[in-house]
Amino acid sequence: MDQNSETNPEFKTIGLIGCGAIGGRVARFIQSELKQQASLTALFDVVETSARDLLQSLQEPGCQLCTSFQDLISSVDLVIEAASPAVSAEIAEACQRAGKDVIIMSVGGLLDKESLWEQAGSGKGRIYVPSGAIAGIDCVHAAAVANIESVQITTRKPPKGLAGAPYLVENNISLNDLQEERVVFQGSAREAVKGFPKNINVSALLSLAGLGPDKTTVRIITSPEYTRNSHEIKVVGDFGEVTTRTENVPDPSNPRTSYLAALSVCALLKKMLGPIRLGT
Ligand SMILES: NC(=O)c1ccc[n+]([C@@H]2O[C@H](COP(=O)([O-])OP(=O)(O)OC[C@H]3O[C@@H](n4cnc5c(N)ncnc54)[C@H](O)[C@@H]3O)[C@@H](O)[C@H]2O)c1
Repeated sequence: MDQNSETNPEFKTIGLIGCGAIGGRVARFIQSELKQQASLTALFDVVETSARDLLQSLQEPGCQLCTSFQDLISSVDLVIEAASPAVSAEIAEACQRAGKDVIIMSVGGLLDKESLWEQAGSGKGRIYVPSGAIAGIDCVHAAAVANIESVQITTRKPPKGLAGAPYLVENNISLNDLQEERVVFQGSAREAVKGFPKNINVSALLSLAGLGPDKTTVRIITSPEYTRNSHEIKVVGDFGEVTTRTENVPDPSNPRTSYLAALSVCALLKKMLGPIRLGT
């Protein structure tokens, strides 16, 4: 079914902050699939050549490079953040101040920012967080209307998908010569996001949708045998129980990121722009 037969009048211009694996895919999707409804008009990346390379590959006359994320926010109707958890809360706050809607991919950066949720208004300045690399967020939302008892997530990634994580560095955990499967982390979503800020955004989103970052339990497992990023979620509540398992293909240009994460932004954009909203 074509969900894009009408234009959402709320936004016509889109700006992208972060022109890496996710940003590049989303930019090409907007250009090829959403051109009737909206345009990508602004790009910003802290590494200027990344934004310039993307701009060149798009060959989009109406799109320009910005010199800061603040400039970008002021020039568009909708902002997409696909940059870093170190800056996502600052971007979300700036969008709220400017009354601009924003899609946040680096959701781990929002966990300690309760004020953001309190200030989120019902009009412009809304924060959207796509389901990213996991399945089941719709169910957690529905379950949270009643009582949820427990939420667990087990993430499995190949060693290169966890490389450089602060938790591994601080605990002198080397995965270079790993011969077998190993549980590298067990703890709360809040601790997981601190220890693996670039690898475990999904647990941050799951915790925000369900029991919060301190009551959501996270396990991270790796093995030299793994070729995919998988996420297994178990939720128990008044509704019953649900288990989902997502087997993700890593994005070739960033093995920490799953291909599905970029697809989820594209799907959200389609939903925001279309007249029909399927799913919770
Ligand atoms: N929610 C999810 O399910 C999910 C899944 C995967 C990745 N992510 C997150 O999405 C973000 C993008 O992922 P990716 O795979 O495209 O990463 P990437 O490393 O391929 O690209 C990130 C880009 O952002 C740029 N950047 C970094 N800091 C910046 C800043 N302060 N301002 C502007 N640009 C900046 C980098 O130069 C790079 O070009 C990451 O934070 C990642 O952790 C979320």
